[in-house]
Amino acid sequence: MLPASFPSRLIELDETDSTNSTLERLARRQHLPEGTVVTARYQSEGRGQATNSWFSDPGCNLLFSILLRPLFLEPRHQFFLNQAIALAVADTVSHFLPGHDVAVKWPNDVLLNEKKVAGLLLEAQLEGNRFRQAIAGIGLNVNQPKFPPSLPWATSFFLESDRLFDLTDVLAFLLQQVGQYYELLRQNRQEEVGKLYMKKLYGIDRQIRFRTGTRRFGGKIAGLSAEGKLIIDTGQAHEVFGFREVEFLRT
Ligand code: BTN
Repeated sequence: MLPASFPSRLIELDETDSTNSTLERLARRQHLPEGTVVTARYQSEGRGQATNSWFSDPGCNLLFSILLRPLFLEPRHQFFLNQAIALAVADTVSHFLPGHDVAVKWPNDVLLNEKKVAGLLLEAQLEGNRFRQAIAGIGLNVNQPKFPPSLPWATSFFLESDRLFDLTDVLAFLLQQVGQYYELLRQNRQEEVGKLYMKKLYGIDRQIRFRTGTRRFGGKIAGLSAEGKLIIDTGQAHEVFGFREVEFLRT
């Protein structure tokens, strides 16, 4: 089989509700090749994790979704997909902004100089105990000139460098990186992907503050479980948290 080369098909939209929703609808109606990418200049209902929305001014940033069919991966190992895509985004940020601090924040964010520059929304559909498809939606803040006060920890390439970037170039590089990491997964080299992710993980080698429910505590990230849960070393114990069970505190 040929290595993954993305996009296999590019659907560029001026405006849509959400590129994830659009790609999901299109894939329901017709057969689309793996690696189909839907981009939009503007999303009227851009979706973030949980019930969050995704903010982006028209034409400023990358808003796109990739259709994947990771039949080689067991659904319980879905977190490797998140890792592969987060790494691809992190590499892209480092490529265009060399010398800046770039990290992945568990589970799905990419940080630039400790602020969020990108988010990933991975929506998988299963058939029995196999993936039918997975839609990886990526929002990467490139030329956004400012964010609303409700997003104090958001940033963009522009805000960190005072330069504007060509969105087509950034997308091409990012998709190439996604193709490379996806290929590692296809070749069953998940462990390599996992190690690279750990190297770039925010909080891996330093004490940070967390909150779970009303409890605040300090700790260091000790690692990830096989299912991608976060293991925090609090000094007294190793505690394991699933997605949305723990929050990183800034202060
Ligand atoms: C998050 O960090 O909360 C995830 C954000 C994901 C945003 C992207 S933008 C393109 C794609 N379409 C959506 O509606 N969401 C994702």
